[in-house]
Amino acid sequence: MFLNPFKKAFGLDLGDHSIKVVQLKQRLVNKGPYHYELAHASSFNLPAGLIVNGEIVQPEEVIRLLKSHLTQQKIHLNKIPWAVSCLPETKTYIQLLNIHLSEPKEKLEQSDIESLIPSYLPYELNEIYLDWQEINPNPKEVDRSVLLAAVPKKIADPYTYLLNIAGIVPLAFEVEALPIARAVINRQKDLTTQSRGILDLGATRSSFIIYDHGTIQFSLSLPISGAQITEHIQKSLSLTFEQAEKIKKECGADKGKCSPELAKVLEEIIDDLAKKITQAIQFYKVHFPEKNTLTGIRLCGGGANLLNLENILSAKLKMKIRKVNPWVNIYPKGEEPMPLDESISYTTAIGLALRAIENPLTI
Ligand SMILES: Nc1ncnc2c1ncn2[C@@H]1O[C@H](COP(=O)(O)OP(=O)(O)OP(=O)(O)O)[C@@H](O)[C@H]1O
Ligand SMILES: [Mg+2]
Repeated sequence: MFLNPFKKAFGLDLGDHSIKVVQLKQRLVNKGPYHYELAHASSFNLPAGLIVNGEIVQPEEVIRLLKSHLTQQKIHLNKIPWAVSCLPETKTYIQLLNIHLSEPKEKLEQSDIESLIPSYLPYELNEIYLDWQEINPNPKEVDRSVLLAAVPKKIADPYTYLLNIAGIVPLAFEVEALPIARAVINRQKDLTTQSRGILDLGATRSSFIIYDHGTIQFSLSLPISGAQITEHIQKSLSLTFEQAEKIKKECGADKGKCSPELAKVLEEIIDDLAKKITQAIQFYKVHFPEKNTLTGIRLCGGGANLLNLENILSAKLKMKIRKVNPWVNIYPKGEEPMPLDESISYTTAIGLALRAIENPLTI
């Protein structure tokens, strides 16, 4: 876009435990298919209790910390106030829906989508914000597909309020699965006959996304998270949270490094995780008739750094599983601007930054 007034907009990932900022800029000279490069990436941890399960409990303190971080990082909101942000995965909905029309029509209308809501979401229409996009529209067909994203107003409004008070203009709020998929699905790769799973293991929430036919099919919150894994280790091995976090990061599920007790605790957790993923894949097989075979799962979020997790999950699910490269659409292989272990925590923020530079106002 030539005259994009928001070209310096940044991606802002607001989580319970951390806030992450990523800003991209146009390359002076394109490098093959790569048009952008990193202008800024930073993050800071939020003390517990300020945002809890996606609900903003202490907005004033979050605003104070966010403004002070941005000032420190030399992101001057009087010059660049625009951001694309996301809403907590556990409180939002995203799913591909099939719509059966009584007769073919050129374009779907808002009312076509609204009529479906009661059968899909436990909310009244006036309680939610809806966003939707038709997938592969064919005006001659009566059976159409729509990617629907919905957020309860009581969740979204405090985020708008928070950013406005902080002096930030939110150009868009996305459901988290969208930026994740945007960052990690390689645009150069032909995936017409394959579907992909993406598992995001964050500090307080995890989700499993299925991507197929060029779009997200659905996203499911999983009752497992990085902090829960630490708490499990803490209880089972009678440690403090800090000690448990330390051995989780240092030893993980690496047989050569961890004690048999830790291995046992992690084995149970990973077993449970594998079961939940199998159920989600099964759900996809049963409910989505046009599915492609799931050929692999990519792991992101800081929890994906658990040593040996990829190998254990691969063996349990009998499928290729590896960590994502969230720079895959921005940098050629080997030229990524930060180590991949660190990068995977930035996956959501990178996807938001891509939206901010490419298409800030519409999906
Ligand atoms: N090497 C490691 N091994 C295991 N877990 C790790 C490792 N490094 C980070 N983690 C875990 O990753 C989690 C943080 O991940 P991430 O930065 O993606 O979370 P977040 O975005 O702050 O949280 P959320 O998305 O839940 O709001 C923490 O639970 C941390 O313990
Ligand atoms: Mg996160």
